[in-house]
Amino acid sequence: MNAEKLALSIASILLLIFFSLILYGAKDSIIKVSENKYEIHYIARQFSFFPMELRIPKGSILDIYITSPEVIHGFHIEGTNVNLMVIPGAITYYRAKFDNPVEYKIYCHEYCGLGHQNMMSKIIVE
Ligand code: CUA
Repeated sequence: MNAEKLALSIASILLLIFFSLILYGAKDSIIKVSENKYEIHYIARQFSFFPMELRIPKGSILDIYITSPEVIHGFHIEGTNVNLMVIPGAITYYRAKFDNPVEYKIYCHEYCGLGHQNMMSKIIVE
């Protein structure tokens, strides 16, 4: 095996570990605290929210924690009064209750750069 093949193999393994860690992190961003009570930890960054999609049962109380690693973003859940500012270096908190089975769109409402209008996520209440 020459050095080039070895480097390629190592790079492939590192990439696999990297994506596995992302998936592991995705699992941990949603925590079921008790029956119908959930905690969600969002990261807002140019130009997406993570996680991109959240599914919760109707009647859920959702404790939202959100932060940004770089610039200021907005977090608005369409059709609700949830309208937050996401500040780098700080954690914004809000508790919301979702009674009806609705698919809510989430938008960034603070101009944050060239991809601002593509920055969205959703909460699916089942
Ligand atoms: Cu993020 Cu606009």
